[in-house]
Formats: sequence, C-alpha cells, structure tokens
Amino acid sequence: MSTPYVCPATYSGSLDNFLRRLMHKPAKILSPFIKEGMTVLDMGCGTGFFTAELARLVGEKGKVIAADLQQEMLDKMILKVSSLGLEKRVEAHKCQSESTGIDKKTDFILTFWMIHEVPDQQKFLEEMKSFLNPGGRFMIAEPKIHVTRKSFNELIKRVEDAGFQIISTPEIAFSRSLLLEVKTAGD
Ligand SMILES: C[S@@+](CC[C@H](N)C(=O)[O-])C[C@H]1O[C@@H](n2cnc3c(N)ncnc32)[C@H](O)[C@@H]1O
Repeated sequence: MSTPYVCPATYSGSLDNFLRRLMHKPAKILSPFIKEGMTVLDMGCGTGFFTAELARLVGEKGKVIAADLQQEMLDKMILKVSSLGLEKRVEAHKCQSESTGIDKKTDFILTFWMIHEVPDQQKFLEEMKSFLNPGGRFMIAEPKIHVTRKSFNELIKRVEDAGFQIISTPEIAFSRSLLLEVKTAGD
C-alpha cells in the first residue's frame, strides 16, 4: 500500500485564509448537527479551522477532542482556540500514524479533507465507528480536487463495509461529503 501525501504544516496557510473562509462557513456546515453538551472529535483538525466553531457549538459543558498527526498543526489549533477564549473546551490529541490512540466515546466525528491522507482507510473507519456513542454521527468531507468520483465511490464501499449507513450527502463547496450513522440490527 503506498503512503498517501499528508498536508504538511508548512502549507497550513492554505487551510485558513480569506478564500477558505469565503468557501467554507463552519457554522453553516456544522450547526445542524452539533448540540450543547456534546463530545465531538475533530479528526485531522489541522490548524483548527472547524475546531473553533465546534467548541463554540458544544458550549461550556461540551468537549472537542482535536486530533492530528502533526504537533505543529496542533500548536496552531491551540493558538486559534485560545485567541477566542475557547481553549477549556478543547483537548488536543497527537495521533500516531498506525493508530489514533484515542480512547474516548464521542457524539459526533468530523473528518474534513483528511481521509484521503490515511493509508489504511478500512482500519481507520472501523476505529471511528468504535468511538461513536449510540446514535452518534460521522461527517466525512473530501476535497474534489484530490478525490475523484471513482475514489469516493470506493470510500463509500469501505464506509458501508465498516458498518455505517449513509443518512445524507450534505452540500459542501468543492467537496464530496457523507453524513453517517452506525447501522443497527433493524436497518
Ligand atoms: C488537508 S488537512 C485538513 C485540516 C482540517 N480538517 C481542515 O479542514 O482545515 C488534513 C489534516 O489531517 C491530518 N492527518 C492526516 N492523516 C492523519 C491521521 N492518520 N491521523 C490524524 N491526522 C491526520 C494532517 O496532519 C492534516 O493536518
């Protein structure tokens, strides 16, 4: 299996800038799914473009686990949420490449423009499933520029093999996306 390209921290400027903020509105994308008091995982959080909004939406009683492979990304994420006074709601977690090392259950998982960087997607998706509380949801958004329709269809097959069902396909600019729940015996 070839190792996919991981967006380096030196390119982090491309993840949070004027154009990105025009293209993606975190509040619009996330607010239908996040409620106060939730525990949320922002997997592959990068510089925290979505972490800050997640932290705002979960409120004082909620928690965001912001996880990334790269410490430099986590450092930038922490700076961002701290500048907004949201740092108490955010727990930074550094993943290893073979396993996330996360041991918490969550109500919502976001992987925004990151799964195409994961070498073993099947194992990764099964791990995400194990992190979800009953009724929890998992949003995947992948960049059209890097993920063709064919590759995304292969991801859909992996998602279904991992035991998820597709609830909807949210409209997100320049992205192919899925909102998922774990399949239950009655589905
Ligand atoms: C293209 S960036 C997207 C960042 C953020 N989600 C956003 O939308 O701005 C992908 C991020 O995923 C992280 N990443 C890639 N593979 C990962 C893995 N296996 N575990 C954790 N993070 C990973 C990278 O380090 C990078 O910060």
